[in-house]
Amino acid sequence: MPDKNTPLGFDTICLHGGHTPENNRAHLTPIYASSTYTFDSAEQAIAVFKGDEKGYIYSRWGNPTISEAEEKIALLEAFGLKDRSGNPLQLKAILHASGMAAICTMLLGNLKAGQKLLTHYSLYGGMHELAEKILPGMGIEATIIDFHDVNKVQDAIKADNTIGLLYIETPANPTLQCLDIETLAALGRKYGLVVCVDNTFATPYLQQPFRYEVDYVMHSTTKFLNGHGTAIGGIVIGKDIDKMTHGITKMHRLLGGNSNAFDAFLLTNGLRTFSLRMQRHCDNAMQVAKYLEQHNGIALVNYLGLANHPDAAIAKKQMKHPGAVLSFELKGGFDAGVKFINKLRVCTNAVSLGTCDTLVSHAASSTHMGVAREKRLEFGITDGLIRMSVGIENVEDILSDLEQAMG
Ligand SMILES: Cc1ncc(COP(=O)(O)O)c(C=O)c1O
Repeated sequence: MPDKNTPLGFDTICLHGGHTPENNRAHLTPIYASSTYTFDSAEQAIAVFKGDEKGYIYSRWGNPTISEAEEKIALLEAFGLKDRSGNPLQLKAILHASGMAAICTMLLGNLKAGQKLLTHYSLYGGMHELAEKILPGMGIEATIIDFHDVNKVQDAIKADNTIGLLYIETPANPTLQCLDIETLAALGRKYGLVVCVDNTFATPYLQQPFRYEVDYVMHSTTKFLNGHGTAIGGIVIGKDIDKMTHGITKMHRLLGGNSNAFDAFLLTNGLRTFSLRMQRHCDNAMQVAKYLEQHNGIALVNYLGLANHPDAAIAKKQMKHPGAVLSFELKGGFDAGVKFINKLRVCTNAVSLGTCDTLVSHAASSTHMGVAREKRLEFGITDGLIRMSVGIENVEDILSDLEQAMG
C-alpha cells in the first residue's frame, strides 16, 4: 500500500479502503462470526470501554467485518472533498440492518418530540409511511411540500420554527425526480437545520452530497453498493465525528438495528467492483433509454439523461451521469404491462434495484397493487408504467429482450 498520506484513487478505495490486515494474515477480512470479544485483563476492558484503547466489545456495537464496510463507504463519500479548513474531509459511517434502520437512527438521533422534519413529496414509500404513520406517534411530524420551489421551502421553514431537519432524497424512488442539493443545503444551513440526503439511487460514484456541506448521507446498501442482491443493509454517514461517535452511535446501539458480519462481508465484496459496475450500469441505461424513446409502443420514458425529463438540468449539475434507473409507460396500459412482464426472458421481474442483473417491475400489478388507482395516478404511477434498474448484461441482450417482450 502507498504511504498512509497519499490519497488513493476511487477504484483503489473500492478494493483496499478500510481494510486492516488481521493476525492470521487472511487476504480478505474474514466473517467475524462472534457475538462478543475477549479482554486480556480487567484493566484492558476498562481501557476499551473508556475508548482509550481501540477494540471490539460486542457485535451489536460493531466488529471488524462491519468496520471495513463502514470505513470503505465513508472514504468513497468523502473522496476528493475537503473540510472548511482545507483538510481532507473526515466522515464516520455506521452500518445498519437495512436502509430503513439507518434512516430511523439518523432521524431519532436528530429530532425530538415537538420537532418536525421537512421533506419533498416524492419519496421512497417506506420513508413516506414512516413520516406519515409512525413518527407522528412519537411527536415528530412531517411537513411534506414540493422542494422544486425553493421559495416555498424557505417560506415553510420561516413559518414554523419547530422544523429541525431537511430530508432530501435525490433521485427519488420511484419517480426519479431530482432535487438541487446545493441550493437546498444552503437554505437548510441558513436556518440552522440538519440537512440529510438519501443517496441510494446515485451512490458516491455519481453524486457526493457532502460536497454541498450536508450533515448526513444515508444509503440503502441493499442496492448498488452491494450490487449483487445478496443482503439487505443500510448506512448513515456523518461529518460531525463527535456527534456520530456519541449521539448517533448511542442511538444505533440502543435501537438495535445493527448489521451482521455476513451481510457486511457480502457488502464489502460487492464494493470491490463497485466503480466498474456503476459505469457499465450507466452506459447500458443510456442506451436502453435511447432505444425506448424511439419505440412506438412507448408513451413516455422517464430518464434523467433524456432532455424531456423536467429535472435533467439538476441531474446534470450534480451527478456525474444520470444513473441506471428509468421508468417507461407502455401505450397499452395495465394489460400491456402484464403481457410485457410475462414475456421477459433476460430481464428479471422483481422489485428492488441496483443488482448487477436487470430488474424490471410493473408497479400497477405489484408494488402499487394495493394503492387506489386515483392515488397512484396522482404520483405518476400510471397503469402501464414499468420501472427498470438496468444491469450490466451485454446491452444487446437487454435490448432484444425488451423488443421481443413488447412485440
Ligand atoms: C431511496 C431508498 N431509500 C431507502 C430505502 C430503504 O432501504 P431498505 O429496503 O434497505 O431498508 C429504499 C428501498 O428501496 C430506497 O429505494
